[in-house]
Amino acid sequence: MTVARVAARGLRTSWIWLGLFCLIPASSPAQDALEERIETILQGMSLEEKVGQMSLRGRSSRSKDDPTALEIEVREGRIGAMLNVMDRAAVDRLQEVAVHESRHGIPLLFGRDVIHGFRTIFPIPLGLAASFDRQLVSEAMRFSAQEASTYGIRWTFAPMVDLARDPRWGRIAESPGEDPHLAEQMTEAMVQGFQGDNLTAPDSLAACIKHFAAYGAAVGGRDYNSAQVPPALMHNLYLRPFAAGVQAGAASLMTAFNEIDGIPASGHRALLRDVLRDDWGFDGLVVSDWESVTEMIAHGFSADDAHAAQQAAVAGVDLEMTSRSYLDHLPGLVKDGKIDESVIDDAVRNILRIKLRLGLFERPNRDPARGDDALLTDAALDASRRAARQSTVLLKNTGILPLAKDPGRIAVIGPLAEAPHEQLGTWTFDGKAADSRTPLAALRQRLGADNVAYAAGLSHSRSQDHEGFAAAREAAREAEVVLFFGGEEAILSGEAHSRADLRLPGAQEALLAELTEFGHPIVLVLLSGRPNTLEAVIDKVDAILMAWHPGTMGGPALTDLLFGDVSPSGRLPVTWPRTVGQIPIFYNHKMTGRPAPAETLSFEDIPVGAWQSSLSNTSRYLDYGTEPAFPFGFGLTYTTFRYDGLRITPTIIPPEGTVTIEARLTNTGSRRATEVVQLYTRDPVASLTRPVRELKGFQRVELGPGETRRVSFELPIEALSFFHADGSAHLESGEIQVWVGRHANDGLAGRFEIRESDTGTSP
Ligand code: NOJ
Repeated sequence: MTVARVAARGLRTSWIWLGLFCLIPASSPAQDALEERIETILQGMSLEEKVGQMSLRGRSSRSKDDPTALEIEVREGRIGAMLNVMDRAAVDRLQEVAVHESRHGIPLLFGRDVIHGFRTIFPIPLGLAASFDRQLVSEAMRFSAQEASTYGIRWTFAPMVDLARDPRWGRIAESPGEDPHLAEQMTEAMVQGFQGDNLTAPDSLAACIKHFAAYGAAVGGRDYNSAQVPPALMHNLYLRPFAAGVQAGAASLMTAFNEIDGIPASGHRALLRDVLRDDWGFDGLVVSDWESVTEMIAHGFSADDAHAAQQAAVAGVDLEMTSRSYLDHLPGLVKDGKIDESVIDDAVRNILRIKLRLGLFERPNRDPARGDDALLTDAALDASRRAARQSTVLLKNTGILPLAKDPGRIAVIGPLAEAPHEQLGTWTFDGKAADSRTPLAALRQRLGADNVAYAAGLSHSRSQDHEGFAAAREAAREAEVVLFFGGEEAILSGEAHSRADLRLPGAQEALLAELTEFGHPIVLVLLSGRPNTLEAVIDKVDAILMAWHPGTMGGPALTDLLFGDVSPSGRLPVTWPRTVGQIPIFYNHKMTGRPAPAETLSFEDIPVGAWQSSLSNTSRYLDYGTEPAFPFGFGLTYTTFRYDGLRITPTIIPPEGTVTIEARLTNTGSRRATEVVQLYTRDPVASLTRPVRELKGFQRVELGPGETRRVSFELPIEALSFFHADGSAHLESGEIQVWVGRHANDGLAGRFEIRESDTGTSP
């Protein structure tokens, strides 16, 4: 990596990183041989056969496969890849036709949305991000790949790496949260997990980073809505996880449904060619989203199917998902001179490359020895249980948790205590409710059925029916402690499932209010695809555990945490709003020229008839101030940790250098627990204003009672560079503020300086 001095910008020297995101892989003999094979295959193909490869065909996730109709098209070379064929015999037959009965014997690529598990379901991706644990997340995706590949699936439409700053957006559940650094880490971990060490291994899946780009920036959190993202923000935020995915070797990428500043993502040449191919050197496959090519007509960007096909292909979409505009129009467009055949050739090269990289030409079929017995293995279930434990975030605890080993009679109430389908969450086509271990079953198993009084109170999370309240009250009256399992059903988050009101749906708030009448402690366990606004219940309950949708092993994992077999260690990957009107609310915001003072205004105390400017003119809500319910990175546990002894070495560092930032962490409580130590920085003066804080590192550190450890971060100064609107990466001299602490509003504070020459050490 080299840096070039650009200019002194006022008080600051500025450097441009040369080649920072030029990730073009060096050529190697193996790569050259692969490219040669591609050229050989390509040369023998007709235009129609090439276009056939550019067609991804499939049916909805629930349709029963009708392979015979598809066989003819496969034989004639009109299909390059398929999705949602979920019958092993059908997969085998179609592949047989492709390899032995089509003219070129090009194998099919079978894809599926394997998002957070296949048959063994792990927590939703937002929950996995809350684990702040790369290793665990990678392991979860490895199991998912192993299971899915038993069906001949070799391609997953995951990970979704769209940053989400708006919990109204239903797909926040599938996202890595709001922070680009955490998202980069999760993206790399997932790509590695799916693809394994060797993509040709029959149990590897090609990953597909999606949805390029800024899909999570849908205005108002309404799915599919336009994204309004200025270029600098695009580079500094939304593109970062994609660059990380490309660097991690993701074999494919999916375009988004949304438009960005007037250009639909599936027709966005600047993103798909200039950034992805030219700047980042991506040589993998670009697939559209489901009909997102022809949806450019509805966007008002394409006149008709032929126009859409032309725009998407020229922009750089190699493979069209489910719509048929390529198949129907690309050959004619080439013959009419409206598209150069080299565009088609490049797309087919990318398609053949992924098939070769997966080893499909050598081994087109699934391994028949790996069937159902490779699903739901003990090892996968154990990983799912660990993942659900580590994803769960303890948001509040007055001391009721962990529960006593022998807690007396417990009341289990709420619509999600025994909801095996709901705990799996969104995008679980292949998960089965029958496999789920529910909280109620796990509690009964642990405590004995007689010690658990169960009454759902509400049949489902949106129910407004108070009929079950009486039974719930009855259960709560006699109990020592009430465990309320509430939140949202799986269908309330995920694709197209945005909400405008984020309170607990149905009559859950009312039911909780009634249960408080008995004065017994109440633990609220939330199972939800997003943060819910908890204003109405937060003061009524003694503890809150956010379990997201925890997956197959949610019940046992939650029981482990409730009884303190394991201490909670999840941390919020998103800022948790107090009320929906604060949204979008995220920790890495800009300062504004009028930052609000720390003390909050009392809305009720504003004098009637107050003078216009008497409340001070600062950036805040009169009624809700600036603070969220819980900040990014927040999460409690069953012990306390002390931070001290911050050391920064050296304190003056050249742009090519690395700074060491250390702090001492002590477990000052009486239980073993894991802390997620977080490193934040701020660049207080820059040529483009920088966020008030940015996460630059994190470490999970497990300590026994009384134990102390020095936690050390090595931060390359290059990590402090930022992008200008033109995509160039800049690093500037001057002060950098540092915090090491528990979350985005906490930390031991220090500083260092980026300067070209001399060095120094903090006292
Ligand atoms: C549409 C979704 O946006 C995308 O994420 C998914 O992979 C495809 N459908 C295929 O199911």
